[in-house]
Amino acid sequence: FERDLLTGRHVLITAGPTQENIDPVRYITNHSSGKMGFALAEAAAEAGARVTLVCGPVHLPTPDRVHRIDVVSARDMLAACEAAMPCDLLIAAAAVADYRPEVVAPHKLKKDPASGDGLLLQMVRNPDILATLAGRADRPFSVGFAAETENLLDYAARKLRDKNLDLIVANDVANPSIGFNSEENAVSVIDRNQQETRFGQASKGHIARQLVAFIADRFNQA
Ligand code: C5P
Repeated sequence: FERDLLTGRHVLITAGPTQENIDPVRYITNHSSGKMGFALAEAAAEAGARVTLVCGPVHLPTPDRVHRIDVVSARDMLAACEAAMPCDLLIAAAAVADYRPEVVAPHKLKKDPASGDGLLLQMVRNPDILATLAGRADRPFSVGFAAETENLLDYAARKLRDKNLDLIVANDVANPSIGFNSEENAVSVIDRNQQETRFGQASKGHIARQLVAFIADRFNQA
């Protein structure tokens, strides 16, 4: 692993889940542990980059020489990323909630006998952080993740195009031995020419170092 691959570069990484409040005591979130994003931040710092890590609520120690910014919601994450711009390279590993409750109730919601056994919660779309940053005039070299349970490569290639990315990292979250909350991962990276490069099952630390070397190489060629 080369220590100087990203010297002098600013790398922005998003990681973990976002948490979308319903009322003062309840929220909606997902199973992301943040492990992959934190491993990428550690590997990018080892490769010499100045690293900003914007993360949702996770239980992980901050890697050495990484500037960490903690956020809660998707909108907070976007604001923190915009404040951290410009960057040379963006790696969006966060599992951002696609929707949030339209209103956050000011007081704890009570069981309402008038509404029977149901509760309707109106949701609205969250901003797409990666697509927003990859769409800016000062866009960084942009890398996304596609966590899917089916049609992995098709969906990943579509996301690469729709979000205007340089690379997308596809992982199969239907496989319980890799992906969300597990210690290991196995991924495929797809580029704009639909060329696929595979990284076989290994620890998230090992996959992260391989991914950072691959991404840095492509970035340096671009
Ligand atoms: O569309 P989908 O959520 O599957 O796309 C996944 C990729 O987009 C990931 O890289 C994720 O971090 C990023 N993303 C984002 N903001 C969102 C949704 C996804 O940055 N609101």
